[in-house]
Amino acid sequence: MIDNASIESLKNSIDIVDVIGNFVELRKAGANYKANCPFHGEKTPSFVVSPSKQIYHCFGCGVGGDSIKFVMELEKLSYPEAIEKLASMFNFSLNYTKGSSDYSDAKRVLEAIQTWYVKNLENNQTARKYLLDRGIAESSIQKFGIGYAPDGNSVINFLNAALLPLPKALEAGVIAQGEGGRYYARLVERITFPIFSASGAAVGFGGRTISNHPAKYINSPQTKLFNKSRLLYGYDLAKESIYKNKKLIVCEGYLDVVMFHQAGFTEAVASMGTALTPEHLPLLRKGDPKVILAYDGDKAGQAAAMKAAQMLSVSGFDGGVVLFPDGQDPADLIAKGQSEAVAKLLREAKPLIPFVLEQTIAAYDLNDPRAKEAAFGNAKQFLDGLTPIIKDAYIPVAATQLGISPALFGQQINQGRPRDNFSQKRDDVAQLSILKTLLEKPALIDSVLDVIDVEMFGGYAEIFAALIAGEKEHPHLMGLAVDETFQVMSEEELQNVLRNFLIKHYDMKLKNIVADTNMPFAKKSFMIRKIKTDIIPRLKRGELVSFDTNI
Ligand code: CTP
Ligand code: MN
Repeated sequence: MIDNASIESLKNSIDIVDVIGNFVELRKAGANYKANCPFHGEKTPSFVVSPSKQIYHCFGCGVGGDSIKFVMELEKLSYPEAIEKLASMFNFSLNYTKGSSDYSDAKRVLEAIQTWYVKNLENNQTARKYLLDRGIAESSIQKFGIGYAPDGNSVINFLNAALLPLPKALEAGVIAQGEGGRYYARLVERITFPIFSASGAAVGFGGRTISNHPAKYINSPQTKLFNKSRLLYGYDLAKESIYKNKKLIVCEGYLDVVMFHQAGFTEAVASMGTALTPEHLPLLRKGDPKVILAYDGDKAGQAAAMKAAQMLSVSGFDGGVVLFPDGQDPADLIAKGQSEAVAKLLREAKPLIPFVLEQTIAAYDLNDPRAKEAAFGNAKQFLDGLTPIIKDAYIPVAATQLGISPALFGQQINQGRPRDNFSQKRDDVAQLSILKTLLEKPALIDSVLDVIDVEMFGGYAEIFAALIAGEKEHPHLMGLAVDETFQVMSEEELQNVLRNFLIKHYDMKLKNIVADTNMPFAKKSFMIRKIKTDIIPRLKRGELVSFDTNI
């Protein structure tokens, strides 16, 4: 069991913006952050994160809660699992009352095996020579914790000798289970590259064969700790430079990252055998760096660069593309002492949007009018996905590349961004402002209940009832809590709003009574007189008239 006190201190040490920012691209919006909701598909952001309240809420689908709830729901984890995931993400040591649990066991296995891999490399001349031949300096081996996984039996023997349970090593992705349940080592006779989360916790391994195994690289499988489509290799070591220099280099391989860093390009990271995906964007966005894609110049690299450049430019990133020529990769060039040439290539990176336009248009023969038309259609479609100002700026570039008039791209129709769906104009500002104020200042609820009945809140009666009942998790209340369009009022402002609200309410009531043909005459005239000559004048004089069940 996780110790309660340590759960509390974890909760106190994490910020919901950091937590959610690891999964979702957050953009600042006033006092809050917003994003497209990860729980339901949407194109305009209705998902709001409030740093002051440490909660999230989606105005589209109604989900909401705190950091822990977010991780539970998104990753489909139980409460203790979510706590452990958060602890691992933020390198926080939890205390356990008795025994320990999956995450800390998996972490223990990963850390122990990492130390062991490193020791193996020290004792293995073949592996050391391999690294040396590839130009990797001793300092880089240490910085990246590069190690060596020997034969499979040694791995299993080591785990047994270190009293690390094999099922836990399986969960950690260090070993696998074959036919008949037999355990075997995943990495055999491979150089090992430990993979860390952004905050530096060990989560997995990549391994390169040095015995010509047909699989050149093998990575850890997807585990609860290791999600390779969200992680970037080297990010933990690069993040300081990324923040400082506002630059990030994405390359293709483990060795490229190591060699980039060795040559002083300490902002380099790599996706691990996968293309960049939208899941990588939250990490890429951190610190708002310019993103340079440094890929192989071969067909595969070019296609990957194109996809990544499209995604990045549509997502509003600044950056560029470098395609390394002649089948060379950055690691090879740096190993050959050509760091200067690499620096030059990086300096001359082609900016993202012109790169995408050029690649798009290059696929067509512009001498053929039909092909030209198709090229134009594709270029326009890409530009239409950009924000109006950016689009405007690049229309002349596309027009020049196509050899057509910029006017063909048409006039800008939608100036400005579409309106945020959660700041739509609300007609019921008074009710919602009252509710918001009571949400923040519950001490005022009683005085409000003296003058107002729940039913007077019409469509909001249910929310008001939830508020009185203290149901803080009610989706509408959470929505209101993070909605900055409604201000928390002072007591005096609240009274004014209440009075105006009551005046409107009684005015309406009066009309209804007059129109009511079923009401007995005596009652009708009593109520009309009471409202007209007593209640409304008192309200107008500034008095808050107590609610009367007879009216
Ligand atoms: N990769 C992988 N699985 C493979 C091949 C590649 O996960 N079977 C990933 C690795 O992260 C690798 C990257 O893709 O680092 C780039 O692959 P590749 O260009 O083939 O390898 P290099 O990094 O050039 O490796 P090396 O220089 O060691 O040959
Ligand atoms: Mn290579």
